[in-house]
Amino acid sequence: MSTTSQDVVENFTDELSDRATRHLWMHFTRMSTYHEGASVPIIVRGEGPYIYDDRGKRYLDGLSGLFTAQMGHGRKELADAAGRQAGTLGHFPIWSYANPPAIELAERLAHLAPGDLNRVFFTTAGGEAVESAFKLVKQYFKMMGKPMKHKVISRAIAYHGTTQGALSITGIPAAKQFFEPLVPGALKVPNTNIYRAPEHLRNNPEAFGVWAADRIEEMILFEGADTVAAVFIEPVQNSGGCFPPPPGYLQRVRDICTKYDVIMVADEVITAFGRIGDWFASHRYGIVPDIITCAKGMTSGYVPMGAMIVSDRLYEPFRTGTASFLHGFTWGGHPVGAAVALANLDLMEKEKINERVLANEGPLRSTLEKLYDLPIVGDIRGAGFFYGIELVKDKKTRETFNADESERLLRGFLSKALFDAGLYCRADDRGEPVVQIAPPLICGQEHFDEIERILRTVLTQAWSIL
Ligand SMILES: Cc1ncc(COP(=O)(O)O)c(C=O)c1O
Repeated sequence: MSTTSQDVVENFTDELSDRATRHLWMHFTRMSTYHEGASVPIIVRGEGPYIYDDRGKRYLDGLSGLFTAQMGHGRKELADAAGRQAGTLGHFPIWSYANPPAIELAERLAHLAPGDLNRVFFTTAGGEAVESAFKLVKQYFKMMGKPMKHKVISRAIAYHGTTQGALSITGIPAAKQFFEPLVPGALKVPNTNIYRAPEHLRNNPEAFGVWAADRIEEMILFEGADTVAAVFIEPVQNSGGCFPPPPGYLQRVRDICTKYDVIMVADEVITAFGRIGDWFASHRYGIVPDIITCAKGMTSGYVPMGAMIVSDRLYEPFRTGTASFLHGFTWGGHPVGAAVALANLDLMEKEKINERVLANEGPLRSTLEKLYDLPIVGDIRGAGFFYGIELVKDKKTRETFNADESERLLRGFLSKALFDAGLYCRADDRGEPVVQIAPPLICGQEHFDEIERILRTVLTQAWSIL
C-alpha cells in the first residue's frame, strides 16, 4: 500500500538536510533559506503522479517534476530499458560513430515531427538544444552566402535556457543581468499574453494575434531582414504563466519568417511529447517550423535527453562536400538516454497518452476554472496539461502586486504553503505572479480535484494574509 501524507516516518532526523546544506548547491535557489535553519525538502521516491519526501509524506506532483514526468514516477518499463541498455553499451560518442538506440530514436522523432523535419541532432538538455539551434542558424547563413544574418528574435519573459547563447535568447532581464554582456543581436518582441494585451485587443484574440505577430515583422524590418537569422518561439510560452497562441498567430509568424528568409525555431522543450496532447504542439497548431528544440518529456525525465530536429532544407548544405556542423556534446545521442526515450514513446503510444490529454484537457480546465470565484484569481490560461493561474490584487482592474507584495506572497507564503498542503507546483513571478500547474499526463479527474482543493484552501489563506 502506498504511504499517504499521514504516514510520516517516526524518529525522523534532519541529517540529510544538514548534509545537503553543507555541500549541495541547489539550482536557482536562495541558499540562505537553508543556512538560516529551514529544512531542505528531500524527495526520495515517486509513484504514478505522487512523490514522497524523506519523512514519508506524499505530494501530488503538480508540475511533473519540471515538466518532465509525462508518464508519472516509478515506471518499471523505463527503469528496465535503462538497465538493459547500460548493460549492453553504456556510452559511446556519436562523433563520427552511431549506436542502435540513437539511430532508432532519430528515425522515430523524424517520423513524429511535422513536415520535412527529418534530421535529428541530439543534446542532453533543452538549453543545449536551443544553443545548438542558435549556432546552426549562424553557420547555415554563412554557408548560404548571407553572413550578415546572425540576429535572433524571441519574446518578452520567455525562458530558453541558461547557457550564454540560450540566455541571450531568454527574455527575462532579471535572469540575465549578472551575466551581461551576453551574445549581441538577441532582440525581444511582445509575447501572447492576451490578459495583459493593449486594452482594445483584449477581447479579440484574432486581432491580438495579428498585432503580436506583426511586432516580429516590425522588428525584422527595424533591424534589416538581411541581418536576422531566426525567431525562437514556444508554441505555448511557459514563463509568465502559460500564454497559448491566439488563433492564426503561429501561422502568421510562419509566413513572416518565410517571407524574410528567417528560420522559425519552435522551442518545444515543454510543449512536446504529449503536454499539449500531441507529439509536438507545432503539429497540433498546424505549423511546420524549420527547427524544433525538445528535451524534458522525451524520456519522461528518467534520464537527460534533448534534441534539435531540423528541416531537410537546413541540413542540405551539410549533406555534401567538406562542411560539418562544428558542434557537439560528449553525451549527445547517449545510448541509455535514447533507449529510455524509445521505451517512453512506446509507453505513450500503448497508453494512448495524446488521446488521453485531449480527452482530459477540458475537465482539467473546467476544474481549475472553479477557482475563478476566489478574489485573488485573475486569469486561468493554458492548453493541454499546461496551465498558469495569474494572481491579482484587484480582479476588476487587473491590478497586480508590487515587488514587495509579490515577494511576500510567493516566496514568503505560497510556495511553502502549497507544498505543505501536499501539492508540488510552482509559484512564479518572472512575469506577473502566477501559479503553474502541469501534472503528469496520466492524471485524471481525481487528481484535478485534489489540485483544485489544495489551491482553493491555500489561495484563500493567501488572500487573508495580504
Ligand atoms: C522552453 C524552454 N526552453 C529551454 C529550456 C532549458 O532546458 P534545460 O533546463 O533542459 O536546459 C527550458 C527549461 O525549462 C524551457 O522551458
